[in-house]
Amino acid sequence: MELTKQNRMLNMQARQWVVTIALVSFGMAAWAHNGATGIVKERMDGMSAMSKVVKDLTPIMRGQADYDAEQVRAAADVMIQHSGEQMTRLFPEGTGGMPSAAKPTVWENWEGFSELAEQLRLSAEGMKLAADNGLAKDQPQQGSAMMGANAGAMMGSGTGDMMGGSAMGGSNMMTPEMFAGMPVDTAFAAVAQSCSACHQSFRAKEH
Ligand code: HEC
Repeated sequence: MELTKQNRMLNMQARQWVVTIALVSFGMAAWAHNGATGIVKERMDGMSAMSKVVKDLTPIMRGQADYDAEQVRAAADVMIQHSGEQMTRLFPEGTGGMPSAAKPTVWENWEGFSELAEQLRLSAEGMKLAADNGLAKDQPQQGSAMMGANAGAMMGSGTGDMMGGSAMGGSNMMTPEMFAGMPVDTAFAAVAQSCSACHQSFRAKEH
């Protein structure tokens, strides 16, 4: 079960993440911090900072701008700074409602919410580790298919240890080490997927 879910994530094709990125970027323009203050403003600012780097990385990950590993690592750092516990500590109970777009589900399903925040952190760490690998399309041997096969083999042999060692125990987390040997855009896809998955369940569309 765990493997199936991970493989699905790994096999995500470029097309899919392009759509995801479009959604994430659109989110940035549509939300305007309406009168938020304090911790609610702080978390919105964190989200906006991440949105900006996702937007900056998009042409790079599509191969439409020069690849720059240093820039990718810096972008990953921004996300690492605003994810995991750095994100969840900004969502104390009782901070939903106007002007926040956070749904009550954040606190009803705190575990699921925290897990996505943590998955974002792990994927961003992975993107940082994979920065020197470059894009799938530039890989010498058939890009993603080849790397995907390697990743499958790697997980087949090591999943037990890696999962057992994860802070979330028994969940479906992808660790940074899993991304380390893959094309950088695979990790970026996982990052973008975390943003979208969380917004789908935990952020109201209108407020
Ligand atoms: C674990 C859940 C979670 C993850 C992961 C997550 N977000 Fe969010 N995001 C939220 C919630 C909840 C809100 C609404 C916050 C509020 O209004 O109080 C939000 C709001 C936003 C906003 C609107 C900010 C504003 O000014 O109102 C943007 C933009 C955004 N997220 C971008 C991103 C990007 C880009 C990523 C990934 C790099 C990401 N988010 C990852 C849960 C998440």
